[in-house]
Amino acid sequence: MREGAGGGGEPIRLDALAAEVVAELAGLGLVVVMSARDPVAVSAHPRALKRALRNLIANAATHGGGACGAVVADTSAAAPTALLRIDDNGPGIPPEQLARAFEPFFRVDPARRRSAPGAGLGRAIAREIVTRAGGEIRLTNRPEGGLRQEVMLPLA
Ligand SMILES: Nc1ncnc2c1ncn2[C@@H]1O[C@H](COP(=O)(O)OP(=O)(O)O)[C@@H](O)[C@H]1O
Ligand SMILES: [Mg+2]
Repeated sequence: MREGAGGGGEPIRLDALAAEVVAELAGLGLVVVMSARDPVAVSAHPRALKRALRNLIANAATHGGGACGAVVADTSAAAPTALLRIDDNGPGIPPEQLARAFEPFFRVDPARRRSAPGAGLGRAIAREIVTRAGGEIRLTNRPEGGLRQEVMLPLA
């Protein structure tokens, strides 16, 4: 087992798991598509990792107006990594708030009631799960607009 896997992880195809989540969310009427799907395996608890992916992809679909996901193998990094990239075309997150964005109950605009209200824990939970699997989540604002969420996990 990999260091950081948190015990009890098993090999999972990240591309297949992401495709499952995309299909489920699309079935709920959300705008979600997948553009690339490299076959990559990571080590994690399947149900936990699925929950993490669902939280992040659902955020792009609801807060970002639509999600475009891609799973690729990133061999440019020091350690070969599985990368799930989730892009949207929403407002993104103001740069000065990005550092706080993983805190429980973080809201870009606390005063505004969202059309898709959530508990405010989705991203914090996702980070906990991904960290336990030895990975990390990165958030950046795309130059062309919208948020980019990247989940990086060691290849199994
Ligand atoms: N794709 C996104 N684009 C812009 N803002 C986002 C996006 N995803 C999340 N956010 C902001 O981050 C907050 C926290 O997200 P999250 O932890 O998933 O909680 P919830 O979705 O329940 O509000 C959201 O309320 C929203 O303000
Ligand atoms: Mg959410």
